[in-house]
Amino acid sequence: AAPPVITIDGPTASGKGTIAHRVAQALGWSVLDSGALYRLTALAVQQNGTNPDDEMAVARVAQELDVAFQGEQVLLEGRDVAALIRQEQVGNLASRVAAYGPVRQALLERQRAFRMAPGLVADGRDMGTVVFPDAPLKIFLVADVRARAERRSKQLKEKGFSANLADLLESMRARDERDRTRANAPLVAAADARTVDSSSLTIDETVRVVLDLWSSLG
Ligand code: C5P
Repeated sequence: AAPPVITIDGPTASGKGTIAHRVAQALGWSVLDSGALYRLTALAVQQNGTNPDDEMAVARVAQELDVAFQGEQVLLEGRDVAALIRQEQVGNLASRVAAYGPVRQALLERQRAFRMAPGLVADGRDMGTVVFPDAPLKIFLVADVRARAERRSKQLKEKGFSANLADLLESMRARDERDRTRANAPLVAAADARTVDSSSLTIDETVRVVLDLWSSLG
C-alpha cells in the first residue's frame, strides 16, 4: 500500500505550515510545503523576467524549477531563498500563477514524489482534494482573519520584513478570495475532511488535535 498521508489544507496563514512540521516531527514523517513550490515558481518568474500573464511560459518555469529542500533551507538553483519566498508580494504572485491549470499540472508529480515511507504530512490548498485524494486523514485548518493576520505579521517580522497589519489583512483577503473562486483546484474542504478551528488554540493544542485524530483512526 502507498505510505499514509495527512493533508492539511486551509486559507493563508491559518498555521498549516507550522502544524504540518510539528505533526511530521512527532510521527517521524516527511513534510511537503506545497505552497513553497508555487512561491518558488513566482520567484523564478520574477527573477528571470517571464511574463506572469503568459500561462504556458509560467508553466515551463514550473516544470523546470531547480529546487531542493534541505532542513530549513529552500534552494532555488542552489541559492537559499527560504526568507525571500515568504514575502507577501511573492505570495500574491504565487496565488496568481497558481490559478493556471498548466502550472498546477506541472507541479503535480513533483508533489506526489514527496510521498514516502513511513508517511507524509502535506500542507496547501488542494492536498486533500487533488494531490492526495486517498489520504486517510484530511484536515481543513481555519482561523479567523485577524488571528491569521497577526500570525503572518509576526512571521514576516521574524524574517526581517516590515508588515502593516491593515495592508496584510487586505492582501490576505484578496488572496483567499482568489484561491477560493478559481476554476482549477480551488481552496475548499474535501468532502471527507475534518475542519479544525485554531483561532483560540495554541500550536501545541492544534498539533494534539491532529495527532489524536490520527490515533483514533487506529
Ligand atoms: O501556503 P502559501 O501561502 O505558501 O501558498 C502561496 C499560494 O500558493 C497560495 O495563496 C495559493 O494560491 C497557492 N497554493 C496553491 N495550492 C497549494 C498551495 C499553495 O494554489 N497546494
